[in-house]
Amino acid sequence: MSKALIDKLNRDKHLEKEEWVTLLSGYTDDDRAYAAGIAREISNSRFGNKIFIRGIVEFSNVCKNDCYYCGIRRSNTNVQRYRLTPDEILDCCDEGYELGFRTFVLQSGEDKSYTNDTLCDIVRRIKAAHPDCAVTLSLGELTYDEYKALREAGADRYLLRHETADKAHYEKLHPAEMSWDNRMECLKYLKELGYQTGAGIMVGSPYQTAECIAEDMLFFESFKPEMIGIGPFLPHKDTPFRDEPKGSYELTLFLLSLCRILLPDVLLPATTALGTIRPNGREEGVKAGANVIMPNLSPTAVRKKYMLYDNKICTGDESAQCRGCLEMRMKSIGYEVAVSRGDHI
Ligand code: SAM
Ligand code: FES
Repeated sequence: MSKALIDKLNRDKHLEKEEWVTLLSGYTDDDRAYAAGIAREISNSRFGNKIFIRGIVEFSNVCKNDCYYCGIRRSNTNVQRYRLTPDEILDCCDEGYELGFRTFVLQSGEDKSYTNDTLCDIVRRIKAAHPDCAVTLSLGELTYDEYKALREAGADRYLLRHETADKAHYEKLHPAEMSWDNRMECLKYLKELGYQTGAGIMVGSPYQTAECIAEDMLFFESFKPEMIGIGPFLPHKDTPFRDEPKGSYELTLFLLSLCRILLPDVLLPATTALGTIRPNGREEGVKAGANVIMPNLSPTAVRKKYMLYDNKICTGDESAQCRGCLEMRMKSIGYEVAVSRGDHI
């Protein structure tokens, strides 16, 4: 049954909601391997054995939001908050450039102390210093005009995980002041403004059901994000979800394969959370159809402070160490790190 559904997905690039629920509720290791085989064939046909790398600069862990799952939520008083200056952000990008990165991802909590003008200025400075590079932003929910100004300043891509396509589920993961409708609206704005847009979910977030994931897959089908961020939910000790179980490693890999089959050209990272839940999680993610890895370029002094979940990997390593480590990890499974922007085609 599952293999027939995987074949149907590959053929039609569509499954009905009930078919998704059946597939996600009743798969075996053998079905996962079957999906991974098809997914990997698709990614190899599109990208060869090349893996795109993006250097993430986590420039502030200050956040006005209070998502129940996130370690840097505003109510967590155990976090030592930090902010990098524009010069420090630029330095991280310069170092990344030397290491072969051609995409910089600026990520932060929703920190309103950086005005939109300041953010635009940072984007312009990075693009001026490195005109052959792409800038990706991951700053959360902004207004249409703010997204527009950042796009005009030169930002190429934007990552904004929708977290869940099921509004009732969203409301169990966030306090009432946060709005699923607004987040979905933001994603529409981003597409409209011509950003290569990334959506995504945490696998196994509390209260998630097979129906929720079925809705996520239908959302991916209709929205057609250029990037999809999927990693396991991992608990953080200072959040309301501290005692919730981790997401499933196996389901994360299965979903990566299904996303690759659904949207053959999608840019699909093997996430840091996947590398945290299993030591070779990112390699297995690539073998399941992922084609992007996003190591950290933040200064070592602040890395441990951007702790979204417990035991996050690479928080003690220099950028150059991570770069070397990834090169080796990818080589070990027959892949090579590409020195290129790695745009969505
Ligand atoms: N503030 C921006 C936003 O909200 O999009 C970007 C930063 S936010 C920390 C980036 C992503 O981290 C979220 O979209 C969420 O999916 C993920 N994340 C947060 N807490 C997590 C956890 N406990 N386990 C796994 N992923 C988590
Ligand atoms: Fe950071 Fe391996 S990627 S140490």
